[in-house]
Amino acid sequence: MRRKVIAGNWKMNKNPEEAKTYLKEIIPMVKDAKSEVVLCVPYIDLKCMVKHASGSNVKIGAQNMHWEEAGAYTGEVSGSMLKSIGVEYVIIGHSERRQYFAETDETVNKKVKAAFTNELKPIVCVGESLEQREEGKTKEVITRQTRLALEGLTDEQVENTIIAYEPIWAIGTGKTATSEDANNSIKEIRDEICKIYGQMTAERVIIQYGGSVKPTNAKELFTTSDIDGALVGGASLKPEDFAGIVNY
Ligand code: PGA
Repeated sequence: MRRKVIAGNWKMNKNPEEAKTYLKEIIPMVKDAKSEVVLCVPYIDLKCMVKHASGSNVKIGAQNMHWEEAGAYTGEVSGSMLKSIGVEYVIIGHSERRQYFAETDETVNKKVKAAFTNELKPIVCVGESLEQREEGKTKEVITRQTRLALEGLTDEQVENTIIAYEPIWAIGTGKTATSEDANNSIKEIRDEICKIYGQMTAERVIIQYGGSVKPTNAKELFTTSDIDGALVGGASLKPEDFAGIVNY
């Protein structure tokens, strides 16, 4: 049985003071969670979050990283820097980074490899736009993004990659994919992994759904055959909403 991973993605929200207050509230609310609980927060909050989450079951992740270890890359943060302060997870290739910050399948792949070099667990985002969906290209887009993100990884690394299937039209819009639709797309991603890495590996990969997940739709999504948790944006900003999803 795959475990579920429920990860919050705060995006560009909350300063360290606000982050600390949030953690104090959320920790007791999710202490009995059966799923892995992760909060992916702005760089500036990471150190304080790692410190204050220590001893709890809340794990901390970043929202991006550079693939190089160090060097003349103004404004960037490397995987080894994240590792050095106790960060465990990192989101890679979120659609907002692909859309606004020129992230490509190639940079996603380099970052995934660099994450493993630094013993960070990557949460790799894939997903189709509304236009691609309407043109019937969903399967083609998500299987290609998955294949390219995982290129050159060992079977063991693939097993330890978390994929977040996030249809772009469902992000921050209040429109959730139906649980059946989301589950089908996730099965297509798993089938693609199976074709390349074999069934045993494919069965072990955690594949989340993301896009307007709320306490009210979490249970329906999480009781399908293939959805292994969620990447939660807006609803992760309030402790009671995020806890409602974690304790679905
Ligand atoms: P949302 O965002 O839950 O606000 O739709 C999800 C995400 O972007 O990861």
